[in-house]
Amino acid sequence: MKVLLTGGAGYIGSHTTLALLRAGHDVFVVDNHRNSSPVVLDRVRALSGRDFGAAEIDICDAGALAACLAAFRPDCVIHFAGLKAVAESIPEAVEYYRVNVGGTISLLQAMDLAECRKLIFSSSATIYGTALPPPFAEDHPIAPSSPYGRTKAQVEQIVTDWVAAADHRGAVLLRYFNPVGADPSGQIGEDPRGIPNNLMPYVLQVVAGRREELLVFGDDYDTPDGSGERDYIHVVDLARGHIAALDYVMTTEASAAFNLGTGRGVTVREVLRTFEAATGCTVAHRIVGRRPGDVGSSVADVAKAARLLGWCAQETLADACLSGWNWQRRNPDGYGPHDR
Ligand code: NAD
Ligand code: UD1
Repeated sequence: MKVLLTGGAGYIGSHTTLALLRAGHDVFVVDNHRNSSPVVLDRVRALSGRDFGAAEIDICDAGALAACLAAFRPDCVIHFAGLKAVAESIPEAVEYYRVNVGGTISLLQAMDLAECRKLIFSSSATIYGTALPPPFAEDHPIAPSSPYGRTKAQVEQIVTDWVAAADHRGAVLLRYFNPVGADPSGQIGEDPRGIPNNLMPYVLQVVAGRREELLVFGDDYDTPDGSGERDYIHVVDLARGHIAALDYVMTTEASAAFNLGTGRGVTVREVLRTFEAATGCTVAHRIVGRRPGDVGSSVADVAKAARLLGWCAQETLADACLSGWNWQRRNPDGYGPHDR
């Protein structure tokens, strides 16, 4: 199959590009490298032993995107490109709508011109409302609490309307929970710019000596040990989830949402214990107050993905800790000093 990935040089996109190449698909990557390095693509080429095309294009540049799709003529597009920092999306709300919503509209128009009718979209568990307790099934109320989350919910709606607007279109909306870990090679991984917002990259930088200590945000939640509980999904499992979604989307003429998680909630303290046991490293940390906007618990109901995609997570959190640490150790500056 010919698959075009927007944002294919990013954290999840690079692991998915590798998985697609290994599964024998032909890929093309579109990325403007706003949050990634072009070095990633050469590493994916080396790991897969295969070459593929790539273009430095902004998804908001409708003309360039349309020309690119018209030339490659993909059977399916996987749409990762976008802005993803929840806190930043509050002061930068309009920029988030421009890139995430506007960029998706120019992508759908480019797909129409290239007669590409299948789309897989990177959505997020952050769209679920938290008034009702987890696990969150796909029909859980949608009530995002940040501009970022609202862009994801809006794009889901736009894509669903795009599917309904003409025959033979199909879409899969993948709602990721908390992606962690790296390819076991240690050649590709998460390379956040500046101070990491998310738990695992922060832990890795503390252990690497780049940050003094982890601040554990809250120990008074209604969770087994009071610290925040999340559903951490290994990025390699996530990449496999896209292969399953690709098989599914090619045979559907509807728009369907799927959670990609493990179905298991893990607290921050449990993450630290697992990390220390897996790597033998100590994570310096201190308990502080809750982070504004955080929820106590977010865990996926994964039954639908198992039933319809035939997919479920296989890697353990210990695997994710070990592979994340392997990536961090081999690449102390990520993909290069230009990053910071
Ligand atoms: P990432 O930032 O590593 O990857 C996104 C890629 O898109 C980057 O390579 C970036 O350069 C590119 N990009 C950004 N704006 C672009 C534009 N205008 N034109 C072209 N390329 C552009 O992020 P990620 O963690 O790999 O996330 C991928 C997708 O998954 C995003 O849509 C994100 O919202 C979604 N998601 C991520 C998480 C997570 O925790 N990582 C969770 C839920 C959903
Ligand atoms: C964040 C985003 C969410 C996004 C998700 C995955 C917010 C409010 N939500 O969620 O939209 O989908 O990332 O990328 O930002 N923690 C600490 N110390 C830290 C960092 C985190 O204790 O330095 C705790 C948090 O309080 C939480 C857990 O670790 O309990 C996970 O945090 P994080 O990795 O930021 O993910 P989310 O909060 O789930």
